[in-house]
Amino acid sequence: MKKGAVLSGMRPTGALHLGNYFGALENWVKLQDEFDCYFFVADWHALTTGYEDTSDIKNNIKDLVIDWISAGLDPEKCVFFLQSSIMEHAELHLLFSMSTPLSWLLRCPTYKDQLAQMKDKNITTYGFLGYPCLQAADILIYKADFVPVGEDQLPHLELTREIARRFNSLYGEVFPEPQPKLTKAKVLPGTDGRKMSKSYGNTIALSDSPEVVKKKVSTMITDVARIRKDDPGHPDVCTVYAFHKIFNESEIPEIDTQCRAGSIGCVQCKRNLSNIMVDYLTPIYERRQEILNKPEFIREIIQNGNEKAKLTAKKTMEEVRKAMKIDW
Ligand code: TRP
Ligand code: SF4
Repeated sequence: MKKGAVLSGMRPTGALHLGNYFGALENWVKLQDEFDCYFFVADWHALTTGYEDTSDIKNNIKDLVIDWISAGLDPEKCVFFLQSSIMEHAELHLLFSMSTPLSWLLRCPTYKDQLAQMKDKNITTYGFLGYPCLQAADILIYKADFVPVGEDQLPHLELTREIARRFNSLYGEVFPEPQPKLTKAKVLPGTDGRKMSKSYGNTIALSDSPEVVKKKVSTMITDVARIRKDDPGHPDVCTVYAFHKIFNESEIPEIDTQCRAGSIGCVQCKRNLSNIMVDYLTPIYERRQEILNKPEFIREIIQNGNEKAKLTAKKTMEEVRKAMKIDW
């Protein structure tokens, strides 16, 4: 017996990297055995900030689902679907937009942050402001019990809960309030020590081959103050060490001691990391190669998932229309 329904989505914005994997996907893989899991490709959400150039979206949708499956999500255990295939999300979004006060959207912290950050794009749009309403529709239409999110997404989930409460008090109890399932964020820096991010060009992609992973590890920034290999090092400022913490936890005390004593060189330390990472990532890489040999596979998985998602979404929308007395 499963312990409730979990729902989450990702935007199809290009190859997932290890930061995404340890930040979210690894956790999804753990949840799939305990909960009824719905994972969807949030392609409409990708348009809220990327409506100008849509040329990569189709490919990104396919690549995202390939990333999921290679990382260990099992389409037999979870429902994978595509947001834009389930029109009911758009209908519920419209209805929520009628009753959601503008002030709730304007005070959303990610709204202000992104407006300030994305200076190169015009996102002073209706759709971008209303995006938490769309996210609320995504979640509530499946009456999800839990939403696995990072801490940065907590305000959106709170907004979803407020939207659910407002609907219920206006029209009668239809929506349960979803709970956040907080991921213990394992934070991985990029290969240059800054935050791992596509815009910095410092990522290791889940789809990188073992050769590429090795090459990227060999270019990682270590303790820059360490010049000769017997100089004492400072693991806390070293990117390689941050990776060891995640991939090689059991040897951390030893690496720490050896680095500080100057008894291990950075070249050797990187080589050890490389080997462990390649061992970890090779099954993921091999699963990807298998899927790439079956081009129709991903389409079928999404179509199957869409059918299941649609059944639930349709049923909820019938309840919604009835509660709102617009079931004419
Ligand atoms: N907002 C999420 C992101 O930017 C994606 C998303 C859309 C989502 N709808 C959702 C996540 C519903 C969880 C639940 O990554
Ligand atoms: Fe970093 Fe390892 Fe070099 Fe120490 S020995 S500075 S932990 S790469």
